[in-house]
Amino acid sequence: MTATSEPILEVDGLVKHYPLTQGVLFRKQVGAVKAVDGVDFTLHRGETLGIVGESGCGKSTVAKMLCNLERPTAGSIRFKGEDITRLSGRALKAVRRNIQMVFQDPYTSLNPRMTVGDIVGEPYDIHPEVAPRGDRRRRVQELLDVVGLNPEYINRYPHQFSGGQRQRIGIARGLALRPEIIVADEPVSALDVSVQAQVINLLDRLQSEFELSYVFIAHDLSIVRHISDRVGVMYLGRIVEIGRDAEIYDHPTHPYTQALLSAVPVPDPEAREHRERIILTGDVPSPTDIPSGCRFRTRCWKAQERCAREVPALAVPAAFRDVSGPAAHDSACHFAAEGQMAAARDEDGNGPG
Ligand SMILES: Nc1ncnc2c1ncn2[C@@H]1O[C@H](COP(=O)(O)OP(=O)(O)OP(=O)(O)O)[C@@H](O)[C@H]1O
Ligand code: SF4
Ligand SMILES: [Mg+2]
Repeated sequence: MTATSEPILEVDGLVKHYPLTQGVLFRKQVGAVKAVDGVDFTLHRGETLGIVGESGCGKSTVAKMLCNLERPTAGSIRFKGEDITRLSGRALKAVRRNIQMVFQDPYTSLNPRMTVGDIVGEPYDIHPEVAPRGDRRRRVQELLDVVGLNPEYINRYPHQFSGGQRQRIGIARGLALRPEIIVADEPVSALDVSVQAQVINLLDRLQSEFELSYVFIAHDLSIVRHISDRVGVMYLGRIVEIGRDAEIYDHPTHPYTQALLSAVPVPDPEAREHRERIILTGDVPSPTDIPSGCRFRTRCWKAQERCAREVPALAVPAAFRDVSGPAAHDSACHFAAEGQMAAARDEDGNGPG
């Protein structure tokens, strides 16, 4: 945990719009899927930034751009100060090595016809300088050992492993090139709850062992809580609130974060009884047709006329700017300082529609 350490990744105004076309003979662009629509954040060396949001809000698209698997429509991604979206050739290859992705689904992300040894060692085909041919088997066995798998399983196939073990294989592969950053896109979402904790503990241990920085993506705030130093909450292609762990979990100022947190299971029955449950009404708008002003306004119980006119900036709300409390963190809401949860429920505990 290193809030004061240097930035390793700086993301500015990141945008990914996929064109929507019509017509067979003459394809004409009729709109755009605004999958990512202006994302800013900084990742510091050695820290874990959690990114959380509902399905379709653009988390995987951000992840792919960070790992250079998708080219941004606009914006910059600086790795140690250098904009990697403008690199090509050898310079790009060198940076790619340093930012590796771990995927969500260990059942589909591993090629069923390749042995574990070939899967984990495959990155060396592209970067032979990291492990010369004669040394690969030993390297792969070392990696299997590091992630808690028996090195003798090197010749087995993915179907011979459990879900949790397969995710360990995916992590070993992600580590093969000794990256500085791992972007983990819902690495435990497809796993049983008991196995989730083991994989998170493993990632935690590897982080200190290899001095890794993580971007850890999840759709549920409770999953990232144990591993994140800071958390960013995404809605419809943008980060709407970002801050340190305690700021987000104990003092959320954005109505969307408040709603997500109210849905997180609370183990303590007494605390559960006293807590306010905010039910979000309405569907998430389509990323082809984002509401004017604040993009959350169609589902927000605090929305006022101003919300339709003005886009709220992601910044420390004016009311908290001169105080040094946990509420003083970035939140994209015009009324972040007002009313907090109180207006959010009626007598049945439901939010207004
Ligand atoms: N190649 C593509 N072409 C067009 N639209 C796309 C493409 N990839 C993603 N999208 C759209 O962009 C939006 C964001 O998708 P993305 O996969 O980034 O969301 P996500 O937050 O990772 O969702 P999930 O939690 O379901 O994984 C979605 O509306 C999706 O349908
Ligand atoms: S700006 Fe308005 S609509 Fe958006 S979150 Fe704040 S109160 Fe709700
Ligand atoms: Mg995704």
